[in-house]
Amino acid sequence: MTLNLVELSPATIVAVNTMSLKPGQEEFLAPISYSIAATVIDPAKAWQRVAVDGDEVVGFISASFDEDAPHEHFKSVLLRINVDADDQGRGIGRFLVEALVDEVRRRGLDHITVMYEAGEGGPEAFFHRVGFTPVGETEYGEVVAEIRV
Ligand SMILES: CC(C)(COP(=O)(O)OP(=O)(O)OC[C@H]1O[C@@H](n2cnc3c(N)ncnc32)[C@H](O)[C@@H]1OP(=O)(O)O)[C@@H](O)C(=O)NCCC(=O)NCCS
Repeated sequence: MTLNLVELSPATIVAVNTMSLKPGQEEFLAPISYSIAATVIDPAKAWQRVAVDGDEVVGFISASFDEDAPHEHFKSVLLRINVDADDQGRGIGRFLVEALVDEVRRRGLDHITVMYEAGEGGPEAFFHRVGFTPVGETEYGEVVAEIRV
């Protein structure tokens, strides 16, 4: 496997949108807090990257960096990470989170937050393994976790 990180582009966006999930994973992709916050997330502040193995799209990560975000959780936040079902469990998710942490450091920020739903089939164990520590809960009951850099 030769993993590379590329920008989201017309060449990759279709493949990103057609990546598959394992059964039961759909419900974990977007916590309620994200739909509420969608109104306040500025697309210009989005950081999105695609993991490619050779010329195959295998993963996607999206974050937002916005010092003016009205809520603390959304100032430096991982919004979405997903790895194609067939390629999960090969270190691609970790590769993407490490790239994000590099970006956080590059921007001179001191943390990255993620919000997720706990539960069987969800990303909780992954987020713990790659370094996120729970620090609270949203008003909708999602876990708030962060990596300090
Ligand atoms: C969560 C997700 C991105 C993980 O990607 P991945 O490429 O399979 O993860 P990796 O192979 O890099 O795993 C990194 C570590 O997490 C661990 N891990 C990953 N998934 C795990 C699980 N379901 N249970 C326990 N540990 C898990 C791995 O064992 C590995 O540990 P190690 O490096 O210490 O050996 C992937 O499962 C996915 O796309 N899920 C569906 C979408 C989703 O829920 N996204 C999160 C919300 S937006």
